[in-house]
This record gives sequence, C-alpha cells and structure tokens, in this order.
Amino acid sequence: MTGIISELLGSGSIIMNILAAGGAGYIGSHTCIALLEAGHSVIVADNLVNSTGRTLERISDITKKDFVFYKIDVTDRAAVDEVFSNNAIDGVIHFAGHKSVSESAEKPLEYYYNNTVSTMVLAKACVKYGTGRFVFSSSATVYGDNKVPFTETMELCPTTNPYGETKVISERILRDSVRSHRGLSVSLLRYFNPIGAHNSGLIGEQPLYVPNNLMPYIIEVANKKLDKLLIFGNDYPTPDGTGIRDYIHVMDLAEGHVAALEYLKEGVVVFNLGTGKGTSVLQLIKTFEETNDIKIPYEFVQRRTGDIAICYADVSKAEQELNWKAGRDLADMCRDAWRFGKNGQ
Ligand code: NAD
Ligand code: UD1
Repeated sequence: MTGIISELLGSGSIIMNILAAGGAGYIGSHTCIALLEAGHSVIVADNLVNSTGRTLERISDITKKDFVFYKIDVTDRAAVDEVFSNNAIDGVIHFAGHKSVSESAEKPLEYYYNNTVSTMVLAKACVKYGTGRFVFSSSATVYGDNKVPFTETMELCPTTNPYGETKVISERILRDSVRSHRGLSVSLLRYFNPIGAHNSGLIGEQPLYVPNNLMPYIIEVANKKLDKLLIFGNDYPTPDGTGIRDYIHVMDLAEGHVAALEYLKEGVVVFNLGTGKGTSVLQLIKTFEETNDIKIPYEFVQRRTGDIAICYADVSKAEQELNWKAGRDLADMCRDAWRFGKNGQ
C-alpha cells in the first residue's frame, strides 16, 4: 500500500495526499483551497478542457501554498498510472467530467466516454496502488423527478439526458468496485446547485463553453453582455411559477468534500450536499439585485426540456454524519458570484 498517511493535524485529523482530478475547474479549484487550508497536500490532474492554468496560480496566491499539477487526461491510463506511481496518494476526488446537459444530448458518445472511462481509470489506479479513499462528484440529477426533499435512500429515477446517465453509471461502477475490492471506500456526493465564488474574487465559475446554468447567465446580464435573462417557464406548480432549486455556496460545497474525505469508511456512503432550502428563479434574481444593487431584466419563455419544477435536498444525513452544514446564505452566494463575475473573468 503506497498511500501514506503521514502526520496528524492538531485537531486529530489525518494529513492526506489528495489527487484532485479536474481540480482546475469550478468546484475542484474551490475544493483545492479548502483542502490546502485544512492542511492536506494536493495533486491536481486536469487536461484544462474547461479551465485554465491561471486558476491554478490563483489557488496558490490565495492559500500561499504549493501543490503539484499534471496536465493530463484522466481517461489516459498510462498518464494516470504515472501520477500514482510518482506520488503516495491517499485519496482521490473525481471532479473531471463534462457537465453541459444540452451538449451531452448532442455529443452522447463524448460524454459517456469521458465521464465514465475517467471513473474506471481512476478507480482501477486506486485498486492497483492501494489508495483507499475515492470521492465522486455526482449530482442531484440522479433523483430525476422524485418527490422533494430528495433523500439518499430514494430509488434513482431515469434521467432525461446522457449527462445524467453518466452520473448514474459512474455511481454504479463505483458501488460494484467496492463490492469486490476490499479496502476501497467510496463517497458519492450528490451536489445540488453550486453557485458563488471564493470571497477573494480571484476564482469563480468561468465556463469556457456556452453555459447552461442560471448564475452564469445572471452574471452575463449584470455585465450587460446580454440584454435580459430568459426565465424558462413561469407556469410551474410553485408559489411564483418559476423553478425551485437548492443553491449552495461553492465554498460550503468545497468544505463538504474535506469532511467527506476525512469521514470515509470502508464501503460506499452517499451524501446530499445542499442547503435543504428551495429558492425560485425569481427569488434568486431578487436577492442578486438587492445584494449587488444591479437590475436584472428578464423575460419569461417556454419551459426548458428536461427541467423539473422543484429540487431540494434532505441534508440531515450530511449534517449528522459528516458534522458539516452549509453556512453561507443566498446573499453571500450572490455577492461572491458578482465579486468574481464583474471583472468579466
Ligand atoms: P468544470 O467543468 O468547471 O470542472 C471540470 C474540470 O475537469 C475542468 O477543469 C476540466 O478541464 C476537467 N476535465 C474534464 N474532463 C477531463 C479529463 N478527461 N481529464 C482531465 N481533466 C478533465 O465543472 P464543475 O462545475 O467544477 O463540476 C465538477 C464535477 O461536478 C463534474 O463532474 C460535474 O459533472 C459535477 N457536478 C457539477 C455541478 C455544477 O452545477 N457545477 C452539479 C452537479 C455535479
Ligand atoms: C442543471 C441540469 C442538471 C445538472 C445541473 C448542474 C438541466 C435540465 N439540468 O440543473 O442536470 O446536474 O444543471 O450542472 O439542464 N434557468 C432559467 N434561465 C436560464 C438558466 C436556468 O430560467 O438561463 C432556470 C432553470 O429552468 C431552473 C433554474 O434556473 O429552474 C436552475 O437552472 P440550472 O442552473 O440550469 O440548474 P438545474 O436545472 O438544477
């Protein structure tokens, strides 16, 4: 077993060498900060297909800590093998994936290949090198149109797109791997809707392709790159007719990863990472406007295919078992998203 848990932190937690696959991306970069600040060592493996090296420099600027970076594709077995053989890796967090729902319908093979082969290659390397901890970036999308609040024990619903299926399949691959590889512990983290940015304003969400999600569009409108926001539907069975989601500050989400890594036990554990609160599109716009004193013009258009009306988490399991709770509120999310987004970065 090469994963060497070297020292104890003051709190009694162990210091670990963590491989962050996709660590240059939106959630990965914020998690690298949380890991480094918690005293762990970080190795980032990213092919920069949806991120830039600048983010990595900024992680070092913010934390004043160094880490190792490999510009590799994590579907490449030989490249991943080299990373594992050169570093004593205690745990892997697998963020590396494509995430656009609409693009996944246009390029299903690319999505299935990238998102599931990366999972298999990383899990195989963990087994080969005796790395015991594996944390996977899953999504609330696996719950489909279940009844809210979504709980970890619910039966998963078929998702409406290849992206969602890659999450269901990856979860399955990891569950099956754990069954036959003793010593491998997996945490499936089902993220709800991460928004916001690190409060330095230095890193945030910076999609290189046309975004799908709501907050990047609000930022485009606030920056006057778009005249108005298109709101997909105002006839949902919700109080104001617009869709309800569980928005979570990306730094809370990042800290949830540290808690999940430190908690891991043999077998598979599943955690919802959200706030447990539902917010409508109109409520989010209002909070953004009030927090940042900026008007966001909008227009109602047709519902978006595949959207559900209401999605929010039951977060009691994460709160009880991980001793973690999302502490930042919607105003913090809007303020921090704009602090980064206003520079048009
Ligand atoms: P992101 O696109 O910002 O980050 C993903 C990173 O992975 C990027 O830096 C990209 O360059 C890298 N990458 C992709 N494929 C790779 C490969 N084969 N080899 C090496 N690097 C590769 O996305 P994000 O928002 O940070 O999401 C991270 C993970 O969380 C993804 O798996 C995504 O599906 C999942 N997720 C995201 C959300 C969300 O709202 N952002 C919600 C639920 C789940
Ligand atoms: C979307 C994906 C989901 C994925 C998640 C995180 C779809 C159908 N779902 O979820 O699979 O896991 O992102 O990447 O794409 N909205 C607007 N106008 C916009 C953008 C969004 O009104 O320009 C609305 C949506 O209809 C929804 C809410 O804002 O009600 C949030 O949308 P979004 O940020 O895309 O997240 P999800 O739909 O939850």
